[in-house]
Amino acid sequence: MRSDPYPFYARLREAEPVHQTPFGFWVVSGYDEAAALLRDPRLTSEFHRDAKWAEHRGGWESPVVSDTRRWMLMLDGRAHRRIRTLVNPVFSAGSIQKMRPQISGILTKVLDQMGAGEGIDLIDSLALPLPVTVICGLVGLPVEDRDQCRKWTEAIGHVVDPALDEVTEKAMNQSVLEFRSYIAEHLAKRRTDPQDDILTRLMLAEVDGERLTDDEIIGNVLLLFNAGHETTVNLIGNGMLALLRHPEQLQTLRNNPDLIEEGVDEFVRYDAPVQLVARITTADVTVGQKTIPSGSKLMILLGAANRDPRRYDDPDSLDVSRTDIKPLAFGGGPHYCIGALLGKLEGRLVFRELLRRYKSVSLTTEDVVWRPHVNFRGLSELRVDLVS
Ligand code: HEM
Repeated sequence: MRSDPYPFYARLREAEPVHQTPFGFWVVSGYDEAAALLRDPRLTSEFHRDAKWAEHRGGWESPVVSDTRRWMLMLDGRAHRRIRTLVNPVFSAGSIQKMRPQISGILTKVLDQMGAGEGIDLIDSLALPLPVTVICGLVGLPVEDRDQCRKWTEAIGHVVDPALDEVTEKAMNQSVLEFRSYIAEHLAKRRTDPQDDILTRLMLAEVDGERLTDDEIIGNVLLLFNAGHETTVNLIGNGMLALLRHPEQLQTLRNNPDLIEEGVDEFVRYDAPVQLVARITTADVTVGQKTIPSGSKLMILLGAANRDPRRYDDPDSLDVSRTDIKPLAFGGGPHYCIGALLGKLEGRLVFRELLRRYKSVSLTTEDVVWRPHVNFRGLSELRVDLVS
C-alpha cells in the first residue's frame, strides 16, 4: 500500500466506489462521487465536536483541540466563510503573482546550495527547505527560525492522523503551545511596526466591518504552516519521482517547458500529495446509489478519485500533455485549498528551474523511501544524480 496504493484503489473503485468498511466508516474512491461529497453541505469538517476525536488528542480543552476550533479547515458554513473571506485576499491570483520574485529568490539560494553531483537527496536538499522558507518569508517570520517552525509543524501535523500514541499526542500539544506563543510575539510586534507580510495583512483584514481576532490569526497562521508545508514537499517529491520514472515525459517537458503550467496539475493527479480528506455526515446522504447514514465517518480518497477511468482516459499513465485535468488533489467545494495557487507556483518554479539548470537528472536508485503517513503521501528520501 505504501509504495503503490493504486492497484488496491482500482479494485476498490471497481467493486464499490462508495464502500462501507467492516470498521464502520465509509471510503469513497470514485471521482464523481468524491467531487459531489466535497460540495455537499450535509457533510461536516468540524471534527473537534466529536468526543472520541477530541479525547484522542488530549481532550476538549487541550491546546490542539481548542486551536482547531478556529482553523478554517475545521469549520462549516457561516463560521468557515467568515474566516475564509478575510484570509482569501492574501492568496488571490494577484497576491501570489506579487510573491513570485521572492519565491524565485529563495529557490535560487536553495538550488545554489544543493549544487550538482551523485546521490543527492532531493527531499532533504530541496523539497523540505523550500516550502518552509517560503511560508516563513511570506508570513513575516525570521527565516533563521525555519527549522524550529518545521519541527513544530511536523509535530502538530499529526492532528489529522487516524490514531495517535500518547508520546505523539503530548509532543503535538506542547508544540501548539510553543508555536502559538511564538506567533503571538511576532503579531504583537506588527501592531507597532506593520510590514508587507501576511501577519500584517491578516491583522488589518476587514470585510463588511468584520475583523479577525488575535486567536483566529494565530490559529490560522499555524494552520497555514501545517496545510502548506508537507503538501508542497510532497508535490515536489512525488512529481519529481513520477517524471524520473517516465523519462519520455521528462523529455517532453524539456522540449516544451510551457507544459509545466498544466504539468503540475498532472503530477498531483497522478500521485496526490494529500491522499484523503475526512468528513462526517449530518444527514442521510445518497451518492453512487448508496445511502450513507447520518453520523457516519467517511474518507474521501482523493488519490483514488484522480485515477478513475470514468473521468480520465488511461488514468494510470503520466501524461504532461493532458488537458482539462481538474484533479481533486486540492479538494473541492468550500474547503478547496486556499493555497493551491501558491503551491502550484512553487511547483512550477521548481520544475522549470531544475530542468533549466541540469542537463541530466536521473534516479540514483529505485529504492525510494516513503514516509509512514496515512493522509499524506510523500517520500522521506529521493536520491538523484544531477549533471549541470
Ligand atoms: C501544494 C500542494 C497542496 C496540496 C496538494 C493541498 C491540498 C489541500 C487539500 C486536499 C485541501 C482540502 C482539505 C479538506 O477538504 O478537508 C486543502 C485545504 C487547505 N490548504 Fe492546501 N494544499 C497544498 C498547498 C497549500 C499551501 C501552500 C497552503 C498555504 C500556505 C495551503 C493551505 C490550505 C488551507 C488553509 C486549507 C483549508 C482551506 C479551507 O478549509 O477553507 N495549502 N489543501
